[in-house]
Amino acid sequence: MKQLGSFSDMPIRSAQTADLDAMMALTQDAFGDSAWSRRLMAEVLEAAIERPEQQLARIWEDPCGLAAPPPHPNPDRIAGYLIAQVIGRDAEIQSIAVWPGRQRQGVGTALLHDFMERARRKAWDRIFLEVRAGNEAAQKFYLRQGFEHYGRRPHYYHSPTEDACLMRMRAR
Ligand SMILES: CC(C)(COP(=O)(O)OP(=O)(O)OC[C@H]1O[C@@H](n2cnc3c(N)ncnc32)[C@H](O)[C@@H]1OP(=O)(O)O)[C@@H](O)C(=O)NCCC(=O)NCCS
Repeated sequence: MKQLGSFSDMPIRSAQTADLDAMMALTQDAFGDSAWSRRLMAEVLEAAIERPEQQLARIWEDPCGLAAPPPHPNPDRIAGYLIAQVIGRDAEIQSIAVWPGRQRQGVGTALLHDFMERARRKAWDRIFLEVRAGNEAAQKFYLRQGFEHYGRRPHYYHSPTEDACLMRMRAR
């Protein structure tokens, strides 16, 4: 992995309503037909702004603005995002994506560490997530961060239909 600097230097911030276009461009590129709708992404962003204790949307800003390939204008210089929700004393990562041009450079790790640091501060118990069974890259990414597999949910995803692998880790 090419190092981007210490985590304290990372340009990570909370997403704002103005980030919606850039987040939609990234989520469509990453997840294709199974990407969240614009309406759902807008609702999640609104919830993250109004109820930050329950809903999180974090952005890794790209200082060079070069993350998104044409035709994406990437006006807001977003290299990656992480979206999560808090359920009681646990948290769930709902979506994470990094533009292909910025992958394998530590952006996903930085977003996850930013989130895990918050999990420790808030004394949450566990972090859960679901990932497509065929998405080996993401599973390797999560395993490297300390997540473990704990189950499988058949036919959970659509477009195309696929099982979900269930993963979790202790938050503290
Ligand atoms: C999964 C994802 C967020 C990882 O982000 P990233 O910024 O590329 O990850 P990092 O650079 O922090 O990678 C850290 C480590 O994870 C593992 N990893 C990441 N991508 C990998 C890949 N494509 N293949 C194998 N291992 C990978 C490696 O161990 C890597 O360390 P290394 O580069 O030193 O080998 C990114 O690949 C992505 O956006 N994928 C498309 C969307 C997606 O699948 N999201 C997850 C849905 S649940």
